[in-house]
Amino acid sequence: MTDTESVIKVDVQDQIAVVTLNRPDAMNAINFEMLSTLKGHIESIRFNPDVRVVIITGAGQKAFCAGADLKERVKLPEAKVREFIYTIRRLFSDIESLNKPVIAAINGFALGGGTEMTLACDIRIASMNASMGLTETRLAIIPGAGGTQRLPRIVGRGKAKELIFTGRRVDAREALDIRLVNKICEEDLLMDEAVKMAQMICEAGPVAIEQAKYAMNAGLETDLNTGMAIESNAYWITIPTQDRLEGINAFLEKRKPVYQGK
Ligand code: COA
Repeated sequence: MTDTESVIKVDVQDQIAVVTLNRPDAMNAINFEMLSTLKGHIESIRFNPDVRVVIITGAGQKAFCAGADLKERVKLPEAKVREFIYTIRRLFSDIESLNKPVIAAINGFALGGGTEMTLACDIRIASMNASMGLTETRLAIIPGAGGTQRLPRIVGRGKAKELIFTGRRVDAREALDIRLVNKICEEDLLMDEAVKMAQMICEAGPVAIEQAKYAMNAGLETDLNTGMAIESNAYWITIPTQDRLEGINAFLEKRKPVYQGK
């Protein structure tokens, strides 16, 4: 499945879907067309058993995504702005709760909604030229696609407040220091690093990965006891799977397991 003409390119290879935001002349800024196209792809990836891990990145050398398309925004009546914010918030929540891991490969500017998209991903890897920030307050608006909620959960409330109040951008090293990203690397190695991580995830049991993601996401939003119950239920789902027995048998037979997601 490759569509090079679209504002979103999707390329599936060896169970890894690389989703590329493809408006490089506009720093991959998000317009309505990109929103609805990305929504469609995320929905189809959810039900595609051939995809086990998703990598999201930006086309070109400069940007992951420069946030909302401000050239489109300036022409929108207020009702359309509300529609955009509602849709992007739901879309990023769909990415966060996707039943497979999502890695953001941040290849340059990730500002406003660009950073918010990465916050909805499970893992963030940034190249050395990355520049991230929730810059919305500088435009007299606030992060509206989950940024006020997800940034404090990732970097802590003090740092999140500093970054959102000032709208300051952070470079790759600072992003790593404050644990905004998991890993940084040279620009030309970014996709290799992301794919390497994705390949390792593909070696694990798909049902286990889905349940582990669900348990962490749902459990972190509740108290410890409820989280433990969520973990217990998630574990129970893995017990009757063929993959669980395959894992044990492969270990005993000293071979690599072949997991079917069943
Ligand atoms: N919406 C629409 N177009 C955008 C854009 C956005 N968010 N960000 C960049 N672009 C366009 C620029 O208008 C420019 O187009 P042009 O050549 O037709 O003028 C092109 O992308 C290149 O951007 P430019 O500003 O010339 O590059 P730069 O390297 O000097 O700066 C940025 C890059 C990303 C720092 C700067 O473009 C920027 O600050 N963008 C806005 C980011 C933002 O505030 N996002 C939050 C939105 S809520």
